[in-house]
Amino acid sequence: MNFPIPTMKKMLVAILAICALALATLLSTPSQATTAAAFDASTYKSKCASCHGMDGKATTAKGKELKVRAFNSDEVKKMSDQKLLEVILKGKGKMEGYEKTLGKEKCQALVAYCRNLGK
Ligand code: HEC
Repeated sequence: MNFPIPTMKKMLVAILAICALALATLLSTPSQATTAAAFDASTYKSKCASCHGMDGKATTAKGKELKVRAFNSDEVKKMSDQKLLEVILKGKGKMEGYEKTLGKEKCQALVAYCRNLGK
């Protein structure tokens, strides 16, 4: 390779620019999955954990008071995802529905989150 020096410099600058750009994109856009999971966790923590507990076992004061079932109890495990979604969307008993405030997609993600806690 025998490029004149100015051409080499230009190429080097171009390569550095591409690297910087690639790094910037990499740092600024964490993978979709990580962002979604972090978001579910923070939603759960702020909206649900007071009754269901961070671990989904409902051992919080409110959870005990309202006799909330643990997500890993047989009763909840027997319920279908559709049924859980319905409870989160529309609410049931002492639990309010979240369709209006969170939207359906978020509620669907929360079903998966609750299932995971119940494993
Ligand atoms: C005020 C306390 C409270 C809050 C806050 C709350 N829940 Fe509940 N949740 C309950 C109670 C009580 C039940 C049981 C309802 C029944 O069967 O009468 C329940 C039931 C459920 C069920 C169905 C399983 C079962 O045990 O019947 C799911 C799934 C669920 N909640 C998810 C959530 C999610 C997700 C959030 C947050 C977006 C949330 N809950 C917020 C009290 C709460």
